[in-house]
Amino acid sequence: MVQWRRVFAIIAVKALKAVRSVESVAELLAARSEMSGSVGFVPTMGALHAGHMSLIRQAHEENDQVIVSIFVNPTQFLPGEDFERYPRKEQADRLLCKSAGCDLLFLPPIEAIYGADEPVVKAPAVSGYILEGHERPGHFDGVLTVVLKLLGLTRPTRAYFGKKDAQQLILIRQMADRFFLPTEIIAAETLRQKDGLALSSRNEYLSDTQRTEALKISQSLFEASRLIKQGRSESAAIEAAMRQVLAPLAIDYVAITDRALRPIDAIVKGESLILVAARVGGVRLIDNMWV
Ligand code: PAJ
Repeated sequence: MVQWRRVFAIIAVKALKAVRSVESVAELLAARSEMSGSVGFVPTMGALHAGHMSLIRQAHEENDQVIVSIFVNPTQFLPGEDFERYPRKEQADRLLCKSAGCDLLFLPPIEAIYGADEPVVKAPAVSGYILEGHERPGHFDGVLTVVLKLLGLTRPTRAYFGKKDAQQLILIRQMADRFFLPTEIIAAETLRQKDGLALSSRNEYLSDTQRTEALKISQSLFEASRLIKQGRSESAAIEAAMRQVLAPLAIDYVAITDRALRPIDAIVKGESLILVAARVGGVRLIDNMWV
């Protein structure tokens, strides 16, 4: 049984085309030009979990071919953040990609993506520098720059991003729209564990006790949802109730906004977002709910 699994793993690794050398950009472009039909693209930073897998599966269902990239993008980490210790699990990731329906895996080294003195994308001055952008100034400049590069390389019909990173998704959508990119940006649902914790590569940093503490983040959103179902809509009251659930975690923000990230006084169903960022021990986690 175990042996069969190993044999399968080797075949799966061999069968999945992966480009990863310094020449990977040229290789990727060559492989891309051989693709026909629609192409779905899922950019990731690796350490793949079920959330990433659901994006890859969706891309597989909706497109003829699927490209996945794994690139821990240095420009979106601020000095002192976890770039160095960000989990890297290439072998496991390759197997997971294959099993979820990826046809081409792009694993570029940093030198293939970045050179000296290059143009960069600047996130919008307001929506790119509030909430996550306020806590991590410049983070979204790095995200938008790398995503534009990756979209240019892969030229997908559709690119998939998780609602889990709501602000990222909104800014990427806006970039695609305002830079007149031909790719359709698809928003994928947040995958959670049974107890509610949103899947994240950073959950790996949590000890068992911290993981239990981290549940307060999703529970605060479920509390908001319960209040909204009861007919409550005032942002201030909902935020206060969420803060009570979150205590004693260190809260970076609790925010209720419209779908363009503008703060609102009252929830409007179908048009609002509730966003949370909090620290559990040294681990910073984000979550949100699209109301
Ligand atoms: P990463 O954190 O690896 O996430 C890759 C994609 O998976 C993102 O679109 C993210 O929103 C989505 N994702 C993460 N957790 C999810 C969950 N629990 N359910 C559903 N989708 C989830 O986000 C990035 O990488 C980077 O910023 C990137 C866009 C690749 C640019 O470097």
